[in-house]
Amino acid sequence: MSDNPERELRVSKIRDGTVIDHITAGQALNVLAILGIDGSGGEEVSVGMNVPSDRLGRKDIVKVEGRELSQDEVDVLSLIAPAASINIVRDYEVVEKARVTRPTFVSGVLSCPNANCISTQGEPVESRFEVLDDAVRCVYCDTIIREDLPERIDV
Ligand code: CTP
Ligand code: ZN
Repeated sequence: MSDNPERELRVSKIRDGTVIDHITAGQALNVLAILGIDGSGGEEVSVGMNVPSDRLGRKDIVKVEGRELSQDEVDVLSLIAPAASINIVRDYEVVEKARVTRPTFVSGVLSCPNANCISTQGEPVESRFEVLDDAVRCVYCDTIIREDLPERIDV
């Protein structure tokens, strides 16, 4: 720790919005993809990558001004950043802090990679995956998604 606070400030505080903290190192860009943020919408966003963390060794952090997250977004986020915490900030104060929790199932937020799956046939069948410890499994065709989960996100 430096005794000069000026040297500690990496990403400045936000006024109103959401701080997603303790993101698995390396996942910040996937988190932005889940939130549909690519910069073109004019959102005010700060990102820290691979910053030192007492708890995780290294972590990523995403701060979004003027935006709160939907439950679907938090559910998908939990799949790629299981230790993440969501901090709601109003008038510079953290007014709400919650750890993400892994749901048992996720519906309508991932697309099945199996071209023959009932959920990818243009039928009115919403995708649905069972959440396992290190992967998710399509309830219709049993296809497992593990490493390429970020590419299957469809929020
Ligand atoms: N934060 C922010 N803008 C604010 C308030 C907080 O960007 N106006 C950020 C802090 O920098 C921190 C996160 O939100 O990354 C959580 O803030 P806080 O609860 O004050 O920090 P800690 O107690 O360190 O959080 P934790 O215990 O979850 O690690
Ligand atoms: Zn399937």
